[in-house]
Formats: sequence, structure tokens, C-alpha cells
Amino acid sequence: MIYAHPHSRRSSANRRLLEAAVTVPSVTVHDLYEHYPDFNIDAQAEQRALQTADLLVLQYPTHWYSLPPLLKLWIDTVLEYGWAYGPNGTALAGKHLWCVTTTGGLRDSYSVEGIHGHAYEDFLLPLRQTARLCGMSWLPPWVLHGVPHLDTDALLTWSTHYRDQLTRYPTWITDSN
Ligand SMILES: Cc1cc2nc3c(=O)[nH]c(=O)nc-3n(C[C@H](O)[C@H](O)[C@H](O)COP(=O)(O)O)c2cc1C
Repeated sequence: MIYAHPHSRRSSANRRLLEAAVTVPSVTVHDLYEHYPDFNIDAQAEQRALQTADLLVLQYPTHWYSLPPLLKLWIDTVLEYGWAYGPNGTALAGKHLWCVTTTGGLRDSYSVEGIHGHAYEDFLLPLRQTARLCGMSWLPPWVLHGVPHLDTDALLTWSTHYRDQLTRYPTWITDSN
């Protein structure tokens, strides 16, 4: 799991989800902002770490309908031509990609009538196509909406759900590509 939160200590949702994820024995968590405070990503080390994974989880808070900057830089740096795509670029082919993200906006605000004007999934199109270009299987994203409206009990429920999903991987996978 690649975890990217610029201010993880101030997080209410992602931090709790992360705490749940680290308890799952089959999951290796990689905290990008902790590991690369200088944004100097080691592409080869990242590529080596990815090689043994069946599932790549990207967990992050939504920032301006997109990824936090270090996660975008991670994609730019690690998914190299000839490794992730292009000639012989098959290192990620066949792996699952699961996007797990949180929003401040409520679910209803992500619609044509809502303040954000689009379904949330519309904003994931670049990431989805990135997965496709790399031959990865795109899993139905998990978007936890309206974080400011979630109390401690709700966050605990979602964290438990998340831990269960990770524990039961890959039993809940249906082909969604
Ligand atoms: C720079 C920045 C940009 C944000 N952009 C969005 C956005 O585009 N859509 C949205 O619904 N929430 C947005 N938010 C709210 C965050 O998504 C929300 O605070 C976060 O998901 C809560 O998770 P956390 O408790 O782990 O920090 C933004 C927050 C920040 C700081």
C-alpha cells in the first residue's frame, strides 16, 4: 500500500484507515511523506518493492479533485517507460490497482447537480487509464465521502470495513475492467 497524506498527524480519516491496514499481515504499508520528506523518490527501490505485490493500494486524501503532489510525483517517477508501459514494460501487468481515497465533499455534492459538477469517479479517469496503460486491473474505488461529517464511531466502522476488505483480498474481486 502506498499511503500519501501531506499532514498525516492532522488526519482524522486516513490515519485511522492506515492504523487498520497495518494490522493486516499480508499488507506492506509505505508512507510516502514519511519516507521521502525531501520528495527525492528512489525509483528503483520503489520498483523492486512493487514486484512482489499482487495488489497495489493507493490511499490518500483527495486534494483538488486529484492526488497529493508526492503521490503524483511517485507515479511520474516510478512508472517508467520500458518498465511499467511501452516496450517490455510489463512489470505491473496483471496486478490489481485499488484506489482508496477520502473527500471533504459529501457524496451528493459529487453529481451533475452538485457543487462539484461530476460523479467522483469522473475525477479518477486519469488514474484509471494509467492502470489500463500498465495492464493493471482497476478495482472499484473506495471513496469515503464527507469526512468532516463522520464521527469517531463512523470512522471506526469504516476502518474495520477497510481492514476486512484487505484481509479478504482477493475473494471480493470481480472483473470490473
Ligand atoms: C489542499 C486541499 C485540497 C482539497 N481538495 C478537495 C477536493 O477537491 N474535494 C474534496 O471533496 N475535498 C477536498 N479537500 C478535503 C480533503 O479531501 C479532506 O480534508 C480529507 O479527505 C480528509 O481526510 P483526513 O482526515 O485523512 O485528512 C481538500 C483538502 C485540502 C487540504
